[in-house]
Amino acid sequence: MKPDTPLEPHPALPDYYSDLAQRPAFVRGMFDRTAGYYDQVNRLLSFGSGSWYRRRALTRAGLHPGMRVLDVAIGTGLVARQALTVTGDPRSVIGLDVSAGMLAEVRRLLNLALIQGLMEQLPVADASFDFVSMGYALRHVADLNATFREFHRALRPGGILLILEITRPAQPFKRALLKFYLGQVIPLLSRLTTGNRDMQTLMRYYWDTIENCVPPETIIAAIRNAGFAEVGCDVEFDLFRAYFGCKGGGKGSVAQPDEQPTMT
Ligand SMILES: C[S@@+](CC[C@H](N)C(=O)[O-])C[C@H]1O[C@@H](n2cnc3c(N)ncnc32)[C@H](O)[C@@H]1O
Repeated sequence: MKPDTPLEPHPALPDYYSDLAQRPAFVRGMFDRTAGYYDQVNRLLSFGSGSWYRRRALTRAGLHPGMRVLDVAIGTGLVARQALTVTGDPRSVIGLDVSAGMLAEVRRLLNLALIQGLMEQLPVADASFDFVSMGYALRHVADLNATFREFHRALRPGGILLILEITRPAQPFKRALLKFYLGQVIPLLSRLTTGNRDMQTLMRYYWDTIENCVPPETIIAAIRNAGFAEVGCDVEFDLFRAYFGCKGGGKGSVAQPDEQPTMT
């Protein structure tokens, strides 16, 4: 795979849009309209991927006080809030998101600097962050290669990248179970608990993008191709993935996990 060839995270999904060019507007509109319900539904489906999971992933990857963090696709701030508890300084974390609705929601909840923009074209200076985090948004970008190149550009030498994502399980039984839970139960529960039809569509879309996403090996290769070193991925329950990498040339390096997860 050539690093400058566009790499879409999944093909067009005709239930939502017929052409990939329509995807950015669909995604932005969906998140704009559901921002006020996102945390409520996230609590429903988190099965352990909540605050403690995000915080543990950040510290395992090497986040520590004194680091300057860019949290891309900040959403309602679920990753950024945990980053703040680690760094202890509201000026150390900056959030970025394309959705004005999500930014309005996070502004209500957290006191930190925010940028509206696309992660494929980060409006930040070269080498201006020690840590870039992204939670559960990899499936929404137009081009994974361009996005990872931008993350690399934004990091100083030695800076760390952490990407959290859910991947369809390799085992057929687990996959079928998850498909039922995330593809049917959660969309219905989301609608019933929030009364919002868009939330149901968003959650259906959530599973459809997971099911159709490129495999983890492709993501790891793309992170490497963007220039990252020490690239790897912690896997838990054949489901939760924390991809990490380090920009070469500095002192920093990704902390190695102290227990269990499988490395791929
Ligand atoms: C599922 S939410 C994740 C929120 C949060 N990071 C978390 O851990 O829960 C995905 C977020 O990605 C944002 N997003 C989607 N595509 C984007 C893009 N191309 N550039 C920047 N943000 C994007 C959406 O607006 C949404 O807020």
